[in-house]
This record gives sequence, C-alpha cells and structure tokens, in this order.
Amino acid sequence: MLRFEGVDLHYGSFRALSGVTLHAEPGELVVLLGANGAGKTSIFMAASGIQRPSAGRIRLGEREIAGHRPAEIVAAGLVHCPEGRKLFPMMSVRKNLTLGAYVHRRDKAGIQRSLDEVFSLFPILEVKQHDPAGSLSGGQQQMVAIGRAMLGRPKVLLLDEPSLGLAPLVVKQVFEVIERINRQGTTVLLAEQNAYSALAIAHRAYVIERGRIALEGDRESLLNNEAVRAAYIGA
Ligand SMILES: Nc1ncnc2c1ncn2[C@@H]1O[C@H](COP(=O)(O)OP(=O)(O)OP(=O)(O)O)[C@@H](O)[C@H]1O
Ligand SMILES: [Mg+2]
Repeated sequence: MLRFEGVDLHYGSFRALSGVTLHAEPGELVVLLGANGAGKTSIFMAASGIQRPSAGRIRLGEREIAGHRPAEIVAAGLVHCPEGRKLFPMMSVRKNLTLGAYVHRRDKAGIQRSLDEVFSLFPILEVKQHDPAGSLSGGQQQMVAIGRAMLGRPKVLLLDEPSLGLAPLVVKQVFEVIERINRQGTTVLLAEQNAYSALAIAHRAYVIERGRIALEGDRESLLNNEAVRAAYIGA
C-alpha cells in the first residue's frame, strides 16, 4: 500500500533520513518508534509531499508519489495528521473538520457522510461542533485533528504523535479510536514515543535512530526485544 525504498531527506546540508526502506500493507497498523529527532516526522513529511526526498522512491499503491504535490497525494489516498494538531483555534470544530475534505470539496453529500462517521467515532465532537476548536481540551483537539484527516478519506493515514501531551486516560481513548479506524479498513502509520501503548495496537513496527531504520519486527518481537524495552518502554 505504502512503500519507501532507499529514501534520503536533507534539510540544507543536514541529512535527516538515510536510506529509509519500509512498507505498510493494506489494513496494517504500523508503528514508527524513535526518540526526539530520530526522523519520524521527516518520514511523514516525505510521504505527504511536504518535503521532497533527495533520493529514493515512495510508492502509494502503484503510484510513485515522491516529490508530488501534497493535494495530489491526499487525493490519491494518503492523509497526514500532523504533530501538534495544527488546528485553527478560532474556527469552529466543524469548520476545522471540513477543511480536511478540501480535495473532495465539491462532494457535499460525501462530506456529510464523512462528518457523520467522525461524529460516530467521537460523539463529543458532534456536541461541540459549533464551538471554537481552541476552546476544547487537548484530547478533544486531538480528536478534531484525527477527524479532519478522516475527512480526507484516507486509504493510508499517517498519525504523528497523537498522544503527545495528553493524560493517560485520554491517551487510552485516542489509541482505542486509532485501532477502530484501522479495523474499519484504513492502513495506519503511527509515529509514537509512547512505545508500549503504540505497540499494543500495532501489527508491526520500525525503530528509527538518527534517520535510519535500526530495527523492525512484529509486535511480539519488539515488545520482547531487550534494547527496545530499555530504550522505549523503560522496563
Ligand atoms: N525544517 C527543518 N530544518 C532543519 N532540520 C530539521 C527540520 N526538521 C527537522 N530537522 C532535523 O531533522 C532531524 C529529524 O527530525 P524529525 O522532526 O523528523 O524527528 P522526529 O523523530 O519526528 O522527532 P520528534 O519526536 O521530536 O518529533 C532532527 O535532527 C531535526 O532537528
Ligand atoms: Mg516528530
């Protein structure tokens, strides 16, 4: 479904990604683990067309997407829910959500269907749909960010640190919804530092260190890996 082959990414002369090769198959939930600055966000920036890789290939299904325009990549089915949520705080929850449907903006009935789906995943957002997004709690704002991505109708959804800054109970709710979105058929790539919770819902995971894939494996093998436990789970 999504495949990186030998992807390098530079910021000026700084090499943030070196030969990244990874894949997510249809219906998979794949986790990217890595410390601050490891390169998780850079992988998503390359996939969603915000940064152009300096080498390598990125395929979405049969299409080569490396260096293509972000809107074109969204229309092809890959949607990126960014780190830090990036909502418009003064705009209503509903308006923030529908911004995610920009590439489908002429399909009013489809937008309403997607909104109904998001409201069934996050009932509180239906209640608060006319409130300014900035008035919501951190967890609810994260729900808006995920909901906005769903309005783009992703086949592949990239979620960048959705648990950041949230209370443990809220993290649990957010992860439950991510699992549900995946079970309903969306392929998910989830970048997280919250390794234990992320691996709990993952099929497979990659560990990123200094812009390289340091380790990959299925959930069980990474949960039981001593180095992963020491570095990311603290057990
Ligand atoms: N726009 C930029 N310009 C220059 N360097 C950057 C830029 N964005 C990221 N970097 C650098 O690239 C490296 C990878 O950063 P990236 O944001 O991809 O890591 P990350 O794994 O997402 O980290 P975090 O967990 O803190 O979000 C870091 O060394 C970072 O400082
Ligand atoms: Mg990041």
